[in-house]
Amino acid sequence: MTEIDTTPRGLLTGKVVFITGASRGIGAAAARLFAREGASVVLASRGTAALDLLVKEIRADGGVADSVAVDLADNESVRAAVDHIGQLHGRLDGAFNNGAAIQQPGPLDATSDEDIDRQFAVNFRGHWTAMTAEAGLMREHGGGAIVNTSSIGSRRANPALPAYGAMKRALNSITETAAVTWAAQGIRVNGITPGGTATEMIDAWEAATPGIVEHIKASSPLGRMAEPREVAEVAAWLLSDRASMVTGAIVPVDGGAGA
Ligand SMILES: NC(=O)c1ccc[n+]([C@@H]2O[C@H](COP(=O)([O-])OP(=O)(O)OC[C@H]3O[C@@H](n4cnc5c(N)ncnc54)[C@H](OP(=O)(O)O)[C@@H]3O)[C@@H](O)[C@H]2O)c1
Repeated sequence: MTEIDTTPRGLLTGKVVFITGASRGIGAAAARLFAREGASVVLASRGTAALDLLVKEIRADGGVADSVAVDLADNESVRAAVDHIGQLHGRLDGAFNNGAAIQQPGPLDATSDEDIDRQFAVNFRGHWTAMTAEAGLMREHGGGAIVNTSSIGSRRANPALPAYGAMKRALNSITETAAVTWAAQGIRVNGITPGGTATEMIDAWEAATPGIVEHIKASSPLGRMAEPREVAEVAAWLLSDRASMVTGAIVPVDGGAGA
């Protein structure tokens, strides 16, 4: 009779996972969660001080973590970070492309050229570049899984954050295209669209637009903001082998706000 292995295993055991935007918010929650679920994590953002504290914390808990500085607006720095993972681990199994910047809130005709260019570079082109580099490394070992953090703000008109909404919708498009293009190579690609989540990004929006937090809570059927970990949980599952039949999906994590 074949013995059944009943050893408990983490959702991401044995996987090398890259996380951008890992210094705080959803990315930092993902770093802790993915490491607890058995992944070796490589954490990226522009500043490395917060990353290094996280790396220390994860290692103290017995996890495997490293950090690398990345500016998503700089294609070469994105490619260099993925190369660094290749040197460090020789493989890449998962990538959570999550880093992003919020624009100065305001209507379409008041959005500055600088804001549009920055939203394009950080929130769209950076992920395009990251995905293609990540897929290159994943292919060397038979594939992997990618999750891109989009936003509920990508789904419909976004009069408060028009450039942010547009770039997030463009991210949904390349997420679906990459899923179709790379499926035969064993690479799954999905997106998540969080609703209001309690992070510094929302604090910045509240500072520019007082009352937005209450508005967001009131428009969610669950009546509250998400905790960063609740969003990271969905990314963890999508990156895991348990989601083996899921690709090209844009999954809402919004407490029903988009329903
Ligand atoms: N919070 C929400 O309500 C909400 C809702 C929908 C979608 N989202 C999305 O969720 C993701 C995470 O957001 P969050 O709420 O956790 O935001 P956050 O707390 O502001 O964190 C943003 C992260 O992105 C990094 N980052 C910003 N600009 C970068 C750049 N040019 N290059 C590299 N890293 C950069 C930041 O680190 P450095 O500043 O050190 O670089 C930080 O780690 C984003 O994609 C956001 O659009 C958030």
